[in-house]
Amino acid sequence: MRNNSDHAMFPEATHDEQSAQSFVKTLRVFTTNNFHAGNTAILADNPLSRRPDGSCPSRKELRKALEDEPQNKWWSSMMRTTQEVLYDTVGPSIERQLPELIARANSFRGTLGSLTLDDSVEMPPYLAAVDVHCKPGSYQQEMTEDDVFAGAEFDRTYRLYSMGRLGPNLDGMGRTLVAWLKDHFSDAGPRRILDMGCTVGHSTLAYCDHFPDAEIHAIDVAATCLRYGHARAVAMGKEIHFSQQNAERTNFDDGSFDLIVSTALLHETSRKAIRAIHKECHRLLAPGGLMIHMDNIVPDKALEKYYCDWMARFNNEPYMGALQDEDMVGICVQAGFDRDNIQLGEGIPRFRDKCLAENRAYGNLMVCARK
Ligand SMILES: C[S@@+](CC[C@H](N)C(=O)[O-])C[C@H]1O[C@@H](n2cnc3c(N)ncnc32)[C@H](O)[C@@H]1O
Repeated sequence: MRNNSDHAMFPEATHDEQSAQSFVKTLRVFTTNNFHAGNTAILADNPLSRRPDGSCPSRKELRKALEDEPQNKWWSSMMRTTQEVLYDTVGPSIERQLPELIARANSFRGTLGSLTLDDSVEMPPYLAAVDVHCKPGSYQQEMTEDDVFAGAEFDRTYRLYSMGRLGPNLDGMGRTLVAWLKDHFSDAGPRRILDMGCTVGHSTLAYCDHFPDAEIHAIDVAATCLRYGHARAVAMGKEIHFSQQNAERTNFDDGSFDLIVSTALLHETSRKAIRAIHKECHRLLAPGGLMIHMDNIVPDKALEKYYCDWMARFNNEPYMGALQDEDMVGICVQAGFDRDNIQLGEGIPRFRDKCLAENRAYGNLMVCARK
């Protein structure tokens, strides 16, 4: 039985597998909706919400206000549990069909766009140290030759995890970024685009749709995700050049791109790495080119900030808390961008109306700079 399948690489699920996966998703929707209502009420009753200067509490203050509350403990435990069970239900289903998925990916390889892997690329310590998002083996574990497991698993779990908020092709973040770009730079018509930290290219495809004449490159350090992503793009008829590279130091020439983007990359790196990535963007941009990083950075929204801090402590995304305290403008300036050409803004999520969860505990900061 095929479920939700909209491209030839999408892993299938039997009736029972789909049933278990749907249960986990529904439980997450229920938990998320309750989190928003419950923790919003608790914070509203707390004096922290009524500071005379209206400033947002620190992450430590928010933790203190919420962590002993029974409703929050229930939410926290359910979120961690559903996250683990998500992979427990999807993983075996992907393993069952892995040989077939690998064969399909190999048959697509190189027929549209390209895939360049480089096994000398070292896994950055911030990705190697933990199973990111509690995903066993993280993005990069190689189990067999030409492995696509991590990418296929990501595609299927992301559909459940996102609860509808990223749209049917899971490209909601890319579409949000494009909409923001068009609102703020209506004249932008990039010819060469680089997507950093593309995973399986969910967002990259949005750039193909909106800039059909551009040459599009997408990089990630995880070969398994890139193999799957390349095959998925071919299956969806999109021409993208995928390569295995570290965004901190790529092999592209100076000034190679007029638009560099990322979605949800920064929070999965480190304090040192985001500085290196911004410097690399400055090097790679042609004069007049634009850099836009979109991520969950919400320093002024108490509940959202608490949620990001929780993700760092309990969802194996270690830098997501500290990222809230970073000076993003300062990082762009240090990377070489002129202060007058830096702009921070809020991305308005696409597809939010289709989202099963009412949870609004996500915010998209757009970190944009023009060279
Ligand atoms: C949350 S995922 C990004 C999702 C993707 N951009 C999208 O919109 O669907 C983060 C990705 O960043 C990649 N990544 C983390 N650090 C990186 C680095 N220094 N260079 C390249 N990729 C990196 C990870 O391997 C992972 O695939």
